[in-house]
Amino acid sequence: QQSFIELSDGNMIPQVGLGTWKLDSANMQRVVEAAIEAGYRHFDTAYAYRNEAALGAALKASGLGANELFVTSKLPSGRHGYDSTLKTFDETMANLGVDVLDLYLIHWPMPKTGNFIDTFKAFIKLKEEGRIKSIGVSNFHEAHIEKLIAETGVTPVIDQIELSPMFQQKELRGFLEGKAIKIESWSPLGTGNVVDNGVLKAIGEKHGKTPAQVTIRWHIQNGLIVIPKSSNPDRIRQNFEIFDFALDADDMEKIDALDSANGRTGVNPDEAEFLQV
Ligand code: A2P
Repeated sequence: QQSFIELSDGNMIPQVGLGTWKLDSANMQRVVEAAIEAGYRHFDTAYAYRNEAALGAALKASGLGANELFVTSKLPSGRHGYDSTLKTFDETMANLGVDVLDLYLIHWPMPKTGNFIDTFKAFIKLKEEGRIKSIGVSNFHEAHIEKLIAETGVTPVIDQIELSPMFQQKELRGFLEGKAIKIESWSPLGTGNVVDNGVLKAIGEKHGKTPAQVTIRWHIQNGLIVIPKSSNPDRIRQNFEIFDFALDADDMEKIDALDSANGRTGVNPDEAEFLQV
């Protein structure tokens, strides 16, 4: 039922994953249980979320093997640099309690105060050693990606960016597609804003689905990897019940028109220099 996307390094990623930002450790066990029961096998965390250890423990308790799960984590903004990245990666692996990480991302480019080039060089070494399967970035613009490729010779397989019907990032998507970099949508539900949208409600009624389900389906039909987050078991289930219907061309066109330059609901990467951990 679950669909997969093939990355440019040949690895496969489940197209729908559970986002865990703001999911506190106390809730993790029951949230992960509900997600696995619903069919999720892909989980997205970050060092900065401070919940890696809880996620690792909950996944271990599920009894599923590492080869049945796909786990992503991210190198935090205050830890850029070659040695610092190697050290922080060890912390993440100890937190998660795994030997190999499926996907590691540079959380933010931090062009002024960070050093994403040396950071990515450490990623490349960790991949060569077999400790990470796939390496990518998050919140990178065109210029950051160009510089990364020019100075390391390696193209990240993923850029995880804010993307929702209200903030579609069409230009950046075109650029990334041209480089065969797959796109992962964070805050795919516009931080929950989609549920009140009249257009999405009407499309949902036509298919017997909620605005959130219509939105997740829209991401999928656009070839995006999507990580909706919820801490509510019913909504976790609901967000995965999207493989049994399809939006038609007319629906897709209507959602396309919801794009807005000021539709961003998350942090603007240009103003993210304060995101130190
Ligand atoms: P909750 O955890 O109470 O379900 P995004 O992934 O775009 O950042 O959106 C996350 C927000 O959307 C959370 O506040 C979450 O709240 C809410 N949310 C997630 N799934 C649904 C859904 N199916 N219907 C309504 N709200 C949802």
